[in-house]
Amino acid sequence: MCGITGYTGMLNAKDIIVEGLQALEYRGYDSAGIAFCSSSGSSNKTITIKTVGKVSNLASKLASENIDTHCAIGHTRWATHGGVTETNSHPHSCGKVTLIHNGIIENYHELANELAETGRYPVSQTDSEIAAMLIDSLYDGDPHEAIRKASERLIGAYAFCIIFEDRPGSIYSVRCGSPLVAAYCEDGAFVASDIVAIIEHSKDYFVLPEHHIAHLSSEGINVVDYAGNTYECDMLHVSWDIAAAKKGGYEHFMLKEIHEQPDALLNTITPRIINNLPDFDEDGVPDSLFTGINRVVITACGTAMHAGMLGKLLIEKYNRIPVSVEIASEFRYGNPILDEHTLVITISQSGETADTLAAVRLSTELGAKTLSVVNVKGSSIARESDYVLYTHAGPEISVASTKAYTVQLSMMYLIAYRMAMATGKLSDSEAASRVKGLLKSIDNMKRVLKYDDELNEISKKIRKVENLFYLGRGVDYAIACEGSLKLKEISYIHSEAYAAGELKHGTISLIVDNVPVIAFATQENVYAKVISNVVEVRSRGAYVILVTSAGKRVDTTLCDHHIILPAMDEEFTPFCTAVILQYLAYFTAVRRGLNVDQPRNLAKSVTVE
Ligand code: F6R
Repeated sequence: MCGITGYTGMLNAKDIIVEGLQALEYRGYDSAGIAFCSSSGSSNKTITIKTVGKVSNLASKLASENIDTHCAIGHTRWATHGGVTETNSHPHSCGKVTLIHNGIIENYHELANELAETGRYPVSQTDSEIAAMLIDSLYDGDPHEAIRKASERLIGAYAFCIIFEDRPGSIYSVRCGSPLVAAYCEDGAFVASDIVAIIEHSKDYFVLPEHHIAHLSSEGINVVDYAGNTYECDMLHVSWDIAAAKKGGYEHFMLKEIHEQPDALLNTITPRIINNLPDFDEDGVPDSLFTGINRVVITACGTAMHAGMLGKLLIEKYNRIPVSVEIASEFRYGNPILDEHTLVITISQSGETADTLAAVRLSTELGAKTLSVVNVKGSSIARESDYVLYTHAGPEISVASTKAYTVQLSMMYLIAYRMAMATGKLSDSEAASRVKGLLKSIDNMKRVLKYDDELNEISKKIRKVENLFYLGRGVDYAIACEGSLKLKEISYIHSEAYAAGELKHGTISLIVDNVPVIAFATQENVYAKVISNVVEVRSRGAYVILVTSAGKRVDTTLCDHHIILPAMDEEFTPFCTAVILQYLAYFTAVRRGLNVDQPRNLAKSVTVE
């Protein structure tokens, strides 16, 4: 949801900002803009250049300008307030103040009315411009004071990078809710929504604490709280390389990230296996977290929530305590019943999803214990949870989540096993055998990664349809939900996931000749039931793609394609079925000529409600 970045130092700031915005484009790609300081003699000017569309449009516009600047801020937008126009693009200016913003100012209407009384009127329809006007109205030569006073008035979420015309070479940053990281190295001072925009220059960085102001200059970064006290930020180090954030020869990030899954799983699982057993000691997650609870709530959004659906099945299977899975945006306003005996597990790739973060805060307020499963180090959800288990997927750039999802799945297995060990419900030998199966599933996933030609072929049929259904029961229903979401988000084909037994309670009326139905039948206890449901849709003309475990003899008249998984313990089929659904969505979107990595209207890291 909007990417922002700033740089001040010895290098050409224009180039650094454009590169940074390109790395941040996964956060929004409606429009882009840059503002920079231009000094001649004793006069300083802030120049702003914006374009509608992708960062490449901005880069082309800037290429024809002779810009020599060492201090600049840049923004790539995911539109919330106001349409996709140049006027609504960032940066926004008022008086001496120019800023870029990620987040939503909820009381912008009220502020706009007040500011009108001071003769300040917006030219755009954005909430962000109101913030620039507010800071300008409070500015009398002291940036810290103006920002502090403005923050007292602003309601909502924000990360700002601000330049003041009479402070050339300086950038001021502040945040509440929305993410911001910063780094200082010999190239200069950097600030951005995400480390991917900075990593080419520095692998060491810090997360700017909320309600603190960072002042970036070519000499360094000074962070103070609102009272003016200097604050020493904890430094973090990125373990992955810049190459991980590039396409590396693949046509799309999504395809690359699908192929990175075996490594991502290995990196996530193996540090947690000590003496063949799941172990969270290094993560600082004590067994006592699992022993004093009588209930688990898993809350997340989108794909992460689908990982939680599998988590519920696994935790209930091994621990026999009730687990509910809640969509974070519903949970936070749903008046949930939680107490100190509830463990709330949140799952998030970005660690910044606004609704999931709100769910953590609410859970803490209500006295529950919170454990988060997060991919991005130092993110808000990780920092605000009592305990965190980091997944090690590396940077996920494609908007459609793939490798972040399967590492979240792997964490669900580890949590279910460790919890059951802690409560004496799973013996060490049984846990060791489960872990062995989990590690083996990485090899099986590698085998299914070779099904690409087969799935590409199937996508020829799917690309032409308007509706499609995913079916499954239990574990396969959780997977079906993810399959349906993945297909919808990148191929724009309407799809629904159905618990196979539920289909006949209404939706089967939509099954007519040639409607594709992708059915997962990988679990023995419901295999015959799913097959009966397949017979039902088949007899109504559905085009059936059936996925089963190895060794199942399937009547060839039942389906158009039969995809057979490698032989494996059925507990671990999700790692293989995940690849199938990812490939189907990917190849279908490619065949439809769509922008796979940046689907329409979407952005990664949903930092607004
Ligand atoms: C879909 C997708 C989204 C995210 C959701 C939560 O492919 O990526 O549904 O899963 O927006 O995001 P995180 O995991 O960052 O909290």
